[in-house]
Amino acid sequence: MVAGKYNIPIARPYFTGEETELIAEVMKTGWVCQGPMVARFEETVARYTGARYAVASSSCTTALHLAMLVNGIGAGDDVICPSYSFIATANGITYSGATPQFVDIDPATLNIDPAAAEAFIEANYTADLRNKKTGNKLKGILIVHQIGIPADIDTFKQLADRRGLILMEDSACGLGSKYKDKPIGASGNVSAFSFHPRKVISCGEGGMLLTSDLSMAEQARVLRAHGASTSDLARHKAGGLAQETYDVVGYNYRMTDLQAAIGIKQMELLDSLIARRVRIAGLYNEAFEELVELELIAPPAYVSLWNYQSYPIRLRKGGAEERNALIHALQEEGVSTRRGIPPIHKEPVYERGVTLSHTESVSARSLFLPIYPQLTDDEVSHVIASVKKCVAKVPLPAHR
Ligand SMILES: Cc1ncc(COP(=O)(O)O)c(C=O)c1O
Repeated sequence: MVAGKYNIPIARPYFTGEETELIAEVMKTGWVCQGPMVARFEETVARYTGARYAVASSSCTTALHLAMLVNGIGAGDDVICPSYSFIATANGITYSGATPQFVDIDPATLNIDPAAAEAFIEANYTADLRNKKTGNKLKGILIVHQIGIPADIDTFKQLADRRGLILMEDSACGLGSKYKDKPIGASGNVSAFSFHPRKVISCGEGGMLLTSDLSMAEQARVLRAHGASTSDLARHKAGGLAQETYDVVGYNYRMTDLQAAIGIKQMELLDSLIARRVRIAGLYNEAFEELVELELIAPPAYVSLWNYQSYPIRLRKGGAEERNALIHALQEEGVSTRRGIPPIHKEPVYERGVTLSHTESVSARSLFLPIYPQLTDDEVSHVIASVKKCVAKVPLPAHR
């Protein structure tokens, strides 16, 4: 039960109401799916990120599946990814028939650790990248820019090039973040984004695949629309004279123009929404620095901008029991939080007896605080005061 005047959710999408103008435009034209507004949204995201090609999809998960397919990844292949991620990271790999292989994170960055990836390959694969146990071929690495913190793209690119692997990016949370001054999505690797309401901008559901490779973009466009060789838009323009064939088994991974209309309006706000998130995170950082019970994330120098898709804190000592007590105590103060990301390799569907010590420890000790642009300064102050009060109250193992 929430006591007092506060009832602060963990996240809220930010809409101004102006989105309805573009939605009305879509409805007037009658072109509501995979039409001109989707193409405009794709151009908008490509221009913003500096990516050459953008292919909208129904979600980031489906974009991840497309990323595997356009890279020729499928049954009999392995793809390395972090376990400290939302389960969709692994599912995108699994949909293709490939097997996700989980590698530990660096607790300082929350992202997959390049040294751990290198060691994993060394220990588990032959010189020609065959899995010593299953015979699967290691094809790629899917890095995740977790909670918007850019992973070390260049280091992974070097590792991938050295080993002959494909580097892919799960950028679900990364829109607007910058790696070495360049937006996530600019690297040229296939990169999949999400527009789910927990992300920095949203169009309800939606995703997008970015790439610098024309042939991959074209394949993704075909695969997202049932495998049709000619797009709806091209057929429409040709007035029925352009007839499609179906040469591959495709999917219905299309985005609607209604979603795209919202997305275009959201893109206009993106920088200001991130600026407010950064400001809130700055207030949190300043306030929590003094709390010996907590560890904060200080991103490495290659992170030029963290969009603060989420704001994490973690207990220096203790585990899930203490963390859950803190979540409970904060809820009593009207502050809704969420546990740190549950490791994928511990979910029944992916449990294979693997141990990843950093992933498990970080996950057990972490929680996310409310962060979204509409959070008022007064609410931020309340979250800060509540964290201070609750951390002092929750029984924790001795510090110092
Ligand atoms: C890291 C990561 N990958 C993939 C996804 C899946 O995104 P979507 O819900 O758009 O399919 C999410 C969503 O939370 C995510 O956080």
